Formats: sequence, structure tokens, C-alpha cells
Amino acid sequence: MNPTILVTGGTGFIGSHTTVLLQEAGFQVLILDNLSNSDAQVTQAIATITGQSPQFIAGDIRDEALLTRIFAENNIQAVVHFAGLKAVGESVAEPLLYYDNNIHGTNTLLRAMKKAAVKTLLFSSSATVYGEPQALPLTERHPLSSTNPYGHSKLVIEQMLGYVFQSDPQWRICNLRYFNPVGAHPSGLIGESPRGIPNNLMPYIMQVAAGQRPKLQVFGDDYPTPDGTGVRDYIHVMDLAAGHLAALQRLLNPTAQTSVQTPGELLNVNLGTGRGYSVLEMIAAAEKATGRPIPYDICPRRPGDVASCWASTDYATHVLNWRAERGLEQMCADAWRYTQKQQG
Ligand code: NAD
Ligand code: WQD
Repeated sequence: MNPTILVTGGTGFIGSHTTVLLQEAGFQVLILDNLSNSDAQVTQAIATITGQSPQFIAGDIRDEALLTRIFAENNIQAVVHFAGLKAVGESVAEPLLYYDNNIHGTNTLLRAMKKAAVKTLLFSSSATVYGEPQALPLTERHPLSSTNPYGHSKLVIEQMLGYVFQSDPQWRICNLRYFNPVGAHPSGLIGESPRGIPNNLMPYIMQVAAGQRPKLQVFGDDYPTPDGTGVRDYIHVMDLAAGHLAALQRLLNPTAQTSVQTPGELLNVNLGTGRGYSVLEMIAAAEKATGRPIPYDICPRRPGDVASCWASTDYATHVLNWRAERGLEQMCADAWRYTQKQQG
């Protein structure tokens, strides 16, 4: 049996782009996704890009029997774990759904991994685990906290993984804390397709540019930032995918690293660019990339939003030898290409 990487949530936004890079790097990929927020046709788009279809199983990470079977029937080397729900507002309305899907789901996955003695894991964490930034840029040593059930689920999973590693230091785990992923594969064949009204800025802007929504609401212009609007560290999804590949290569090849003497390791690594852009800067960049106006209204602040958030990238550079390479222009151009292709 060929060594295979199990990618949970692999038909989703970040999982699909990471699958492309894994396949291009020579890995066999098996995707497990329950399609609650994605479409099975993404596997065909991946095959068009890479020339190779990933294996795909429609199923849920909470299904322990299914997971046991997947580990028994395949030679799984490592798991890249994207599967999860991610809407902050929905998590406030439905906290138990988030605890079940994200925490119980991850617990079930970890039990199956332990049973199969597969101990190499990349986990999709989030900058949300830093809570309200006390100092910028955010380093991996910033204190952790959560302000909503979604963020709490990420924090609890990171803590769970800490205790798993403590109980058996042969595990090789990397918590990747993403900042604000945007953009799409340059082919325009895969990208971000939120269902319903987008929660996040970039997909909303793209829908306004495409004429699907009349205008953007800018949530607050009285933050202590240069233009008063919120500042975030937007990162191109292809750079994020490259960060996963670098992290996986490190976990799978510990001897290639300089100072790893222990059998396992547990890393927490930011994946961001290290610079922030305001909402108004994002609008201006999107207008330039799309050639379309992005009308907007200034509205009250969105509850729970922080003024500014951007990453320290030093540790990622040091430990993964990775850094983001794509700029804002490319993030907007690629997101727009995907949006236009979706429109047909
Ligand atoms: P996404 O919704 O596009 O992808 C997640 C995928 O997981 C979807 O295809 C969904 O169908 C699947 N899924 C959900 N629950 C499942 C379950 N119980 N069993 C099997 N499959 C399941 O989201 P994304 O933006 O690609 O995010 C991927 C991961 O990264 C998530 O864990 C998310 O919390 C995390 N993350 C995302 C962002 C972001 O802004 N996009 C930022 C930080 C962290
Ligand atoms: C960015 C900026 C908004 C929409 C969220 C989650 C976080 C992480 C990434 C998963 C902010 C402003 C937005 C709009 C606006 N996800 N905005 N009008 O809030 O940084 O992070 O997604 O882990 O956990 O909280 O991203 O894209 O929603 O907002 O003015 O219609 O755009 O106020 O300043 P955010 P976002």
C-alpha cells in the first residue's frame, strides 16, 4: 500500500488548496469530508489541476467505525486535519454543535489515530486562540484565550493535543495558527465559496464586485488604526497551503532538521504574512484588481471584533523555513478570477 496522507475537510477552501500542493509534492492523498460546507466536485477540479484525482470518502470525522476502517485499509502516514465548523456567529447561536463537531470530532479522530499508531498530525488552528491582542505582532508565546465557542473549540483542541503529546511523546504534532486566509488557486478552479451570506470580508467584497450584493457594510471606522477600520493579516491560501507542506515535511523528516533529538514534537506555528491591511485598503485593492467599484456604508462595529491583528512570522521562518510570498494584489486577482469562473 502506498503511503498516504489523510486530509480531513479536504474538499473545503484551505484543504483543497493544500491537497493540490501535497499531490504536486508527490504525496498520495485520501480526503475524508462530510460535505457539510463543500462540494464533492472539488475533487474533479483538483484532478484537473494536478492530473491526479485524490481518493475521496464522503463521511464524518465523528464516525469512529469509518475512521477505524480507513486506517486499517490504507497506509496512512500522517493526518492533516481541516474538518471543522468555522462560523463565529453560528457558534454563538449553536455552541453545542461546535463542541460536538469540532471537539468530539477531533477526539474521535485522535482515538482512531492512536489505535492505528499513526501519530503525525497537522491541526488547523487559528489566530483566534490569541483572543484580544495585548501586543503586536502576535507571537506564538502570546497568552491564549477565547471569546466565543468557535475559538474555544480551537483552544480546547490545542490543549487536548498538548495532553496527548504529554502522555506519549512520540506524537509529532503541529498546530498551525492561521491568520486571515484569502485568494484562490491561480487556475480559478478552486477557491472559497461560502454558503449564504459571507461572514468574512474578502468573499463579501468579491460578491459586491460581481454584482451579487449591492454594497459592503464596513464594520466600524472608529478603531485606533490609521484609517479607523479594522486591520488584519490577510494571507494567500496558496501560501498557507505551502506552509502546510513545509510543516508536514518537517514532521515526517525529523532527522533533516537541525536540532531535533527527541522522538516527537509539538509545535505551535503562526501562518501569516506579518503585515496588516485595513478594510478600506482591502476595498481599494479589490477595486483595482476587479476594475469594479465596491460601494460601501460605514456601519457600527461588529461585536467581538478586535481593532488590529497581525502575526509575527519569525518562528515559522525559523522552524519551517517558510514564509508567505504573495502580495495583496495577487490575493485579490486570484479571488476575482475564481469568482468570475463561478459566475460562468
Ligand atoms: P471549509 O468550511 O471550507 O472547510 C472545512 C471542511 O470540513 C468542509 O469541506 C466541511 O464540509 C468539512 N467538515 C466539517 N465538519 C466535518 C465533519 N464533522 N466531518 C467531516 N468533514 C467535515 O473551511 P476552511 O476555511 O477551509 O477551514 C478549514 C479549517 O481551518 C477549519 O478547521 C477552520 O476552523 C480552520 N481555520 C479557517 C480559517 C478561515 O478563515 N478560513 C481561519 C483559521 C482557521
Ligand atoms: C476582517 C475585517 C471586520 C466583513 C474571522 C474569524 C477568525 C478567523 C478568520 C477562523 C474585520 C471587517 C468583515 C464585512 C467588514 N476564522 N468586515 N465587513 O473577523 O478577522 O476573523 O475569520 O478561525 O476566527 O473571527 O475576519 O473577514 O470576518 O473580517 O467590515 O462584511 O473586515 O470588521 O475588521 P476576522 P473577517
